[in-house]
Amino acid sequence: MILEKEMKLSEVILHDYNLVPIINRFGIQLGFGDSTIESVCKNKDIDLDFFMTILNSFHDPQYMDKEYLRSFPVELLINYLKETHKYYLSDKIPEIEVIIDDMVVEARDDKGPYLLLQKFFKDYVYELKKHIDREEALVYPYVIKLSSSLKTASIPDSVISMVKEYSITLYEKEHDDVEEKLNDLKNIIIKYLPTVKDQKNRFLLLKELSALENDLADHARIEDLILIPKVEILEKKALLG
Ligand SMILES: [Fe+2]
Ligand SMILES: [Fe+2]
Repeated sequence: MILEKEMKLSEVILHDYNLVPIINRFGIQLGFGDSTIESVCKNKDIDLDFFMTILNSFHDPQYMDKEYLRSFPVELLINYLKETHKYYLSDKIPEIEVIIDDMVVEARDDKGPYLLLQKFFKDYVYELKKHIDREEALVYPYVIKLSSSLKTASIPDSVISMVKEYSITLYEKEHDDVEEKLNDLKNIIIKYLPTVKDQKNRFLLLKELSALENDLADHARIEDLILIPKVEILEKKALLG
């Protein structure tokens, strides 16, 4: 189902609860009554087309209206991607760590498998942070610099040599799927943890890891299918002058 701007935001959220963190990222909190998506965006001063595309791309992984998305300013996209990184590192990861810590405490006699799970997650977070750091320290600043130089009357030579030295295709080649590694963790929980009566935390952890996996996959899709083609266009413009 394609989400339309005339729909009530409350109905959209009832239909797909996983969209809550997405709208939150745009600064929309629950409590919007019967307002349509369009009027919520207007009140919050959110770019409606951009919001609709992000919402739809998360709701339906097949949805990717490339031409449509390419018309957005690249700064909007970078801001959104950065907000998403922040959400993973400041909200989601600590929440998941609390659940795992709880499981370690709960396991009285045989803590071994839970400590292993804890270590696996720690290693995973390290990898994720490395991935994010690289994007925020290198790739995103490159894109912002490129985009702002295109707004000036003449493109500085330094930017042209920057583009010749680092092209977004390098990022395309090295951009790995961080979400796939979450599968190993889910497998440990499903297959190898000792059987216990109270599985509440275990279910909760699986749910949280799956939600993070979906969110990361959507994020990577936006980087691969929207950011990269968009930057390729900017690079061409810079080189052609
Ligand atoms: Fe990213
Ligand atoms: Fe990424």
